[in-house]
Amino acid sequence: MMTMRKQIAAANWKMNLTQPEVKALLDQLLTEPISLQSHEEVVLAVPFLYLEQVRQRIESLNGYRLAAQNCHQKTAGAFTGEVSAAMLASMGIKDCVIGHSERREYQAESDAQLAEKVDRCLEVGIRPIFCCGESLSVRESGKQNEFVGAQVRAGLFHLSAESISGIVIAYEPIWAIGTGKTASSAQAQEMHAAIRAVLTAHYGKEVAEQIPILYGGSVKASNAAELFGCTDVDGGLVGGASLNATEFRQIIAALK
Ligand code: 13P
Repeated sequence: MMTMRKQIAAANWKMNLTQPEVKALLDQLLTEPISLQSHEEVVLAVPFLYLEQVRQRIESLNGYRLAAQNCHQKTAGAFTGEVSAAMLASMGIKDCVIGHSERREYQAESDAQLAEKVDRCLEVGIRPIFCCGESLSVRESGKQNEFVGAQVRAGLFHLSAESISGIVIAYEPIWAIGTGKTASSAQAQEMHAAIRAVLTAHYGKEVAEQIPILYGGSVKASNAAELFGCTDVDGGLVGGASLNATEFRQIIAALK
């Protein structure tokens, strides 16, 4: 029998919170942390500056993991202002968000660059949380499945079956990010099933069934249970609502 896929509530703080605000949020979230079942995880993707502070608060908690929001695609060198995957690993960071749509758009990160970032992470034992998702114009053209499938192939299909088994995918339709407009659970399930079909075609069912696929885009306490209840939705990557401890705790509690 296959083991149950990980179900993951991931917070993406993006470029939010000052240091005192981080402390206050962690106090509310972790003083009485929600205890997790063995198939559940909470991931906190926080700005580089706060990684160590958050690491100290979660290191003794089962199932709570720390993520960076980005890393550089080269191993080391003259890249002022950048942070390498090896640096993150050496600080005890377990996960890294790769290819968020905000970085694809504002930093012009290409598929080729993202494939390199995935490699740098895996080389040092960091689990990439690989993001994909279409814009509103692609959705309106009806080509979203092809578009997202192409992103997944370009970023991940150079990996062996063993390597891809160690990653997490996050589907985040750009039109639903920060807009308050959530994909319906039917739209989310349809895309997640399509992504899993793309994975199955290349890697086989056993591998594809093990890869968690998170939904992101205006996930809130009020819609998390319905979204996470979909067969192929294995939790969420949460922006705005992860900055509110009460909201995020309810989102954690909505994991299946
Ligand atoms: P919101 O939850 O604020 O829509 O952001 C989603 C997101 O981009 C998470 O990475």
